[in-house]
Amino acid sequence: ILDASRPWLVYWILHSLELLGEELSREDKINITNFLARCQDSEGGFAGGPGQLAHLAPTYAAVNSLVIIGTDDALSLIDRRKLATWLDKLRCPDGAFTMHIDGEIDIRGVYCALSVARLTNIYSSSLFAKTEEWLLRCQTYEGGFGGVPGMEAHGGYTFCGLAALIIMGKESLCNTENLLLWAVNKQMRLEGGFQGRTNKLVDGCYSFWQGGIFPLIHSILSNSPSEHAPEESWLFNSQALQEYILLCCQDHRGGLLDKPGKSRDFYHTCYTLRKP
Ligand code: FPP
Ligand code: ZN
Repeated sequence: ILDASRPWLVYWILHSLELLGEELSREDKINITNFLARCQDSEGGFAGGPGQLAHLAPTYAAVNSLVIIGTDDALSLIDRRKLATWLDKLRCPDGAFTMHIDGEIDIRGVYCALSVARLTNIYSSSLFAKTEEWLLRCQTYEGGFGGVPGMEAHGGYTFCGLAALIIMGKESLCNTENLLLWAVNKQMRLEGGFQGRTNKLVDGCYSFWQGGIFPLIHSILSNSPSEHAPEESWLFNSQALQEYILLCCQDHRGGLLDKPGKSRDFYHTCYTLRKP
């Protein structure tokens, strides 16, 4: 089932090792770079595996992985000119992005496109014209963001929406107060972990998608003269989250998981790991 997500497996493992402070060997760096080279499409962007269709999600995973590897070979592998041409083909007139040519539209597309455009220095205001207006339409009455305008607020999409606005320097346009109120209420009183959306179950991976919203909101509040962000802590209960992760999300053979009873996997290991 992960045959179309191979650059994601690379990213989840590399980012986990990076959080743990582990260095990659020279040989691993070369082998991974060579593998990702086989995923790059001749028309720009990266696919989920060699010979597959270029897609924004594996492109995000591949570009972020190559940046983590950081060697000249890894960085120069990215065909930036073709990446820019391909991103321009994914752009919709309203500022949204499709995940692949003729593919579906959702807020992941905007975040992945902005992330890779900024990392590779091909960002241009014309590529993202109207994108902030489209993003703002995704913020719901609850305060979080949905995948497309009108859809239910969800942690995964909220991280994408807020991070995307910040990458564009347009974060002051969203309703920060509603966003914060929604985000703090996604931390579960009993378990200590986060749920992804109202009335759903806690899950270790939302330690990143929801928990990651707090440093972003914090930076917005710290920059605004009328608001106060605490200097020593985030605006959620980090000890309760730590207890959920340590007591409920560990596989004692190594690796992290969604909740007790579920199996460990690289996605949950990456997004449940948190740097203290
Ligand atoms: C609900 O699954 C999950 C979603 C609607 C999508 C979540 C989006 C992300 C995790 C962000 C992805 C971001 C990138 C950059 C690719 P569910 O119904 O199984 O889970 P739930 O019950 O916890 O809502
Ligand atoms: Zn999960």
